[in-house]
Amino acid sequence: MAVEVLTTADGRAKTALSRRHAADWFAARAAGQPIPVGRAEPPLRPARPAKPDLLPPRDVPRRRPGTPAGRIALLHAVAHIELNAVDLHWDIVARFGHVPMPLGFYDDWVKAADEESKHFNLMCDCLEALGSHYGALPAHAGMWRAAEDTVDDLPGRLAVVPMVLEARGLDVTPGMIEVFRKAGDTGAIAALEVIYAEEVGHVAYGSKWFNWLCGRAGTDPKDEFHALVRRYFHGALKPPFNEEKRAEAGLPPDFYWPLAEDLSPPAATGAPHPRS
Ligand SMILES: [Fe+2]
Ligand SMILES: [Fe+2]
Repeated sequence: MAVEVLTTADGRAKTALSRRHAADWFAARAAGQPIPVGRAEPPLRPARPAKPDLLPPRDVPRRRPGTPAGRIALLHAVAHIELNAVDLHWDIVARFGHVPMPLGFYDDWVKAADEESKHFNLMCDCLEALGSHYGALPAHAGMWRAAEDTVDDLPGRLAVVPMVLEARGLDVTPGMIEVFRKAGDTGAIAALEVIYAEEVGHVAYGSKWFNWLCGRAGTDPKDEFHALVRRYFHGALKPPFNEEKRAEAGLPPDFYWPLAEDLSPPAATGAPHPRS
């Protein structure tokens, strides 16, 4: 089921399939006859539509959020993140079938994948209401890098994807909602509020299973998190952090603050930071 989603290119088709498979998974769970977790061979990179063009982040044109074009660009960027997230959650299901995990681990990522599918569709609906669509603008290449870097490391995947990247979403979404509030776009506000509320859960699933794996291995979760983020994450953790929502998701300050301080920008030399 996961590989089928990963190998479907069109965004709306991918999310429709993703939602159908999630419904089947939970129906089977409710009936007390869980679908067996098999072994799968997910592609190294998921299938994606021909559009949007994927560009290096510095080449993606920036538009001011105070303009209609800027708001479309913002929604487009979020749609792209959501589509990527659909694939990331199905990838964790398919990729790590050889690591024995409780069924609840699969429940959480199937639910997260279902929610990301809803988020992608919500963003597409908002774009279409503004006369645009997903694929109309270029999007960031390189979003799959975190998945490729952690292709054989489940704790590393959890540290970087839900606990760093999705936690970052909690930091920036309130500012985005504010942009649409100023513009009076109630549809986009409602959609972003759904995303904001549900993303807390995804970060929480990450920290739950990360802590669980550390407990099984007998390692210290905080030290392990710092080591894995330093190994796999390319760049600084950027304050300000959404301390309240991070706490709600089970991410304590001593997990993320030392990494931010560790990556403080270099002094006035202009020399590139070794880890940036
Ligand atoms: Fe999402
Ligand atoms: Fe998410």
